[in-house]
Amino acid sequence: MNVETGTIAAKPGEARHPAISTQAIIAQDRVKAPGWVASESYSYLGSEDIDTARYTSAEYQREEFARLWTRTWQFACREEHIPEVGDYHVYDIGTSSFIVTRVAENEIRAYFNACLHRGTKLRASGSEGNAREFKCSFHGWSWAIDGSNTHIPCPWDFPHVDAAKMNLPEARVELLGGFVWINMDPDAPCLREYLGPEALAHIEAWKLEDRYIACHVSKPIPANWKLNMEAFMEAYHVPDTHPQVSPTNADQNSQYDVYGAHVDRFISTLGVVSPVHQGKFSEQDVLDRFTVGDSSIVTDKPIVPEGERARQIMADLFRAGFEKAANADLSDVSDSEILDCFSYTIFPNTFLFPGISLPMVYRFRPNWRDHRESLYEVLFLRPKPADSAAWTSAACVALTADQSFKDAAGMDPGFGDILDQDTDNLRLQQEGLEASAKHGLTLANYQEIRVRHFEQAVDRYMAMAPKVADWKNLPKR
Ligand code: FES
Ligand SMILES: [Fe+2]
Repeated sequence: MNVETGTIAAKPGEARHPAISTQAIIAQDRVKAPGWVASESYSYLGSEDIDTARYTSAEYQREEFARLWTRTWQFACREEHIPEVGDYHVYDIGTSSFIVTRVAENEIRAYFNACLHRGTKLRASGSEGNAREFKCSFHGWSWAIDGSNTHIPCPWDFPHVDAAKMNLPEARVELLGGFVWINMDPDAPCLREYLGPEALAHIEAWKLEDRYIACHVSKPIPANWKLNMEAFMEAYHVPDTHPQVSPTNADQNSQYDVYGAHVDRFISTLGVVSPVHQGKFSEQDVLDRFTVGDSSIVTDKPIVPEGERARQIMADLFRAGFEKAANADLSDVSDSEILDCFSYTIFPNTFLFPGISLPMVYRFRPNWRDHRESLYEVLFLRPKPADSAAWTSAACVALTADQSFKDAAGMDPGFGDILDQDTDNLRLQQEGLEASAKHGLTLANYQEIRVRHFEQAVDRYMAMAPKVADWKNLPKR
């Protein structure tokens, strides 16, 4: 459909909702958006159904561990998890496990978390702390935090072992945006090349290294990890899944972009009525109903003056509220960056929501024992206050499968409702796919382009030969 006329477009992928576009909404804002916001990058990637088996087959998930997870850049922890030399944080993906350690003020390494004697994990999954050495609990083989072997009990019995060659093998580590990224593949492109120049410029512009973890929640979800991710890639579902949000969220006219092989995004503008409710709500209604994200920061909502937009008033109120909360000057941050929902996927399993009002990171990991279950994590990354003593990094609250997101301390109750609505769909979707006589998922050309882009990246890795990390082939220190 043509944006102006509402007529069917000539080519697939060119149709857009006839309502006002995301860019037209943003163009009316008082504090103008920078180029990385005020631009579009959509590509049509085909209309074929997506094969159901990738979500329902245990064998498919096993192959993902050998072909995909061993080759891709993953967010293992934030730098703030390991601020001091000797601090470590264990990151698990499937049966792989890494001790991510700060070995010097400006150096972080990720060791394969297994003893080189008989294989015992050197640190338990999910653990973190500060170490002067990594000593195996079984027979006492030990390593310094720089990964060099320091002790083999009874060396007379190991004449065949050269301790100097027993350094802990490492995954690759790169730092970006305050995140520690790891990759098991010595031959993978570096992280910046993997992201590509355009997406990298976006991520750098958001300055996520200046944020801290204000809230961190994890919850097991009864669905394959890819279904879990795809539930958050589009705003097409908002009117039916989150009807309470639609009066204040321009959902089905959101913008979708793809950047190279591994990154895509949407921009969903807030403080604007959904096209499904066009004409039903006044600007005052929109302002009064605005409850997305950090609405608690705004306690009193004014009367909307004649000719003013609710969106502009919310942007102004949020700017003032966040400036006060963070003791920071946000005067040159655009209304869109303050207010809107920006969502970037970094393949395979990280979402960045760098906007100020919804400042989140999502991470998704498959349960290697059950392809129908995945672990969903939500981190709220708030701007660090100017006074560095005024923030502390929140520990992860691990919810059980039957708990509500609202049960997590620090979770905004309205946002907890939204996440419950999203994840309640997922059990039904996993079970429905297994019950279906239609063995494929049909996608919208525009609004579900991120799902297709993501699955095409999965396809590319699944077409590669299995690649299992082998310490003999890993670079040695
Ligand atoms: S398994 Fe680690 S010292 Fe024996
Ligand atoms: Fe949702």
